[in-house]
Amino acid sequence: MNQKSHLIFTLYTIYGILLKVVASKGKPRGISGQYPLVQNMTVTEGGTVNMTCRVEYNDNTSLQWSNPAQQTLFFGDKKALRDNRIELMHASWSELTISISDVTLTDEGMYTCSLFTMPVRTAKAYLTVLGVPEKPEIDGLTKPALEGDQITLTCMTQGSKPAADLRWFRNEKEVKGAKEVNASGKTFTVRSSLQLHVDRNDDGVAYTCKVDHVALTQTPQQATEVLEVHYAPHVKIISSLVVPQEGQYLKLECMSKGNPSPDPVMWTKDGGELPDLDRMIVEGRELTFTSLNKTDNGTYRCEASNHLGTSSAEYVLYVYDVPTTLPPSTTPPLHPIPPDPTAQLGTHASDPTVTGNRDPNAIGQHGTDHALIGGVVAVVVFVTLCLIIVLGRYLARHKGTYLTNEAKGADDAPDADTAIINAEGNHAHAEEKKEYFI
Ligand SMILES: *[C@@H]1O[C@H](CO)[C@@H](O)[C@H](O)[C@H]1NC(C)=O
Ligand SMILES: *[C@@H]1O[C@H](CO)[C@@H](O)[C@H](O)[C@H]1NC(C)=O
Ligand SMILES: *[C@@H]1O[C@H](CO)[C@@H](O)[C@H](O)[C@H]1NC(C)=O
Ligand SMILES: *[C@@H]1O[C@H](CO)[C@@H](O)[C@H](O)[C@H]1NC(C)=O
Ligand SMILES: *[C@@H]1O[C@H](CO)[C@@H](O)[C@H](O)[C@H]1NC(C)=O
Ligand SMILES: *[C@@H]1O[C@H](CO)[C@@H](O)[C@H](O)[C@H]1NC(C)=O
Repeated sequence: MNQKSHLIFTLYTIYGILLKVVASKGKPRGISGQYPLVQNMTVTEGGTVNMTCRVEYNDNTSLQWSNPAQQTLFFGDKKALRDNRIELMHASWSELTISISDVTLTDEGMYTCSLFTMPVRTAKAYLTVLGVPEKPEIDGLTKPALEGDQITLTCMTQGSKPAADLRWFRNEKEVKGAKEVNASGKTFTVRSSLQLHVDRNDDGVAYTCKVDHVALTQTPQQATEVLEVHYAPHVKIISSLVVPQEGQYLKLECMSKGNPSPDPVMWTKDGGELPDLDRMIVEGRELTFTSLNKTDNGTYRCEASNHLGTSSAEYVLYVYDVPTTLPPSTTPPLHPIPPDPTAQLGTHASDPTVTGNRDPNAIGQHGTDHALIGGVVAVVVFVTLCLIIVLGRYLARHKGTYLTNEAKGADDAPDADTAIINAEGNHAHAEEKKEYFI
């Protein structure tokens, strides 16, 4: 600020007042009863704002804008404060508009417009400057996190005024965080933290922190972090057949989940290597048997591991005979005990010791369950169909009986009227019934 220019403008001011004193002599009193009119303004940090001061009636008296520090900015069209950001937009006897560009938080405050009547009339306008929150930052992420870790994500944004709001989203779905606001100078530092107990379901999940603020109308500020969770593998075996039979094609898939991905998986049979690699083809996670043979019986195991652990699953293969359901064309079974699925199920269900973990029939038994359920369902469906047909026929016959009754109504009636009434009544009844038949 320039002292010299201030002195000059103070003189200007005095000069203006003197002029006014001289001019107001002999003028009607009501004229000088004018107040300058101003408006409170709000501007975003870095933006531009126009400050306008108007008077409805003015007898050539100067208007002046001064800043919160009481420094004169413009006196009429004369610039008083050397500040490139402050410019004159419009100056007349009835209006003085100045613009302030590149607004900073220190520009905030009460601005005064003065009209140099006698006495001086002033109006005050408050300029509010909004602090734009900085792009938020997320802290506290360990990459990768291990399953079971307790982590606290913290999102922080500085420079907001008024204090910004922070919102957390887990894959677009809002989740609640704990907010903390601290003032630092004129602006606020806002933090929001989120406690997570990570598990494998958090792997690949995106956590987003969004800033809500009045100064961010079009472009919302946000930060996103994608969780990477490492966890020990978990495998299971999926079989393409429920009841594997001799000669069939069987595919066993070793489904292994884990991060890092447990690759490759290892297949063994009965604790040793696969015996017949010509017919047992291992490709990626799959073990395929091109044509099942009863010698393939055994416990198959797939194992997968990463640096966090090892997991294995077992599948007990029992190759069933091709069913001999067509007696005339097939030779009688050579085995004294045919491996009938139903029979197997019966035996083992009643024997708890055999149902133990390594029972070679465990899986087959499971398959038998399915077969049995399938059979029962088929029978139930068949019986239901039969019932529907029988019922349909019965009802059709019943309907016929009604029609006969209707005719009878006429026979039983003592006179013609009653006969008609009876007939109609029966008829209505028959109609009602018909609806049910349909
Ligand atoms: C300020 O006023 C000028 C002239 O009236 C106008 O062109 C400009 O858009 C205004 N600026 C703001 C920020 O209102
Ligand atoms: C204001 O000043 C102008 C010349 O600057 C003059 O023509 C006009 O009459 C004056 N108006 C009043 C109301 O004094
Ligand atoms: C302008 O702002 C001041 C200070 O914040 C307040 O006291 C006054 O009521 C406001 N005036 C208007 C017209 O909003
Ligand atoms: C806020 O202030 C409190 C007390 O002054 C302090 O303990 C805390 O760490 C501060 N938090 C932030 C986010 O700065
Ligand atoms: C099963 O394997 C044995 C010996 O490896 C072989 O003799 C037999 O023909 C095979 N059975 C079928 C159905 O392929
Ligand atoms: C297949 O397994 C069943 C049951 O364990 C057994 O009775 C049968 O002898 C086995 N067959 C062969 C060829 O190993």
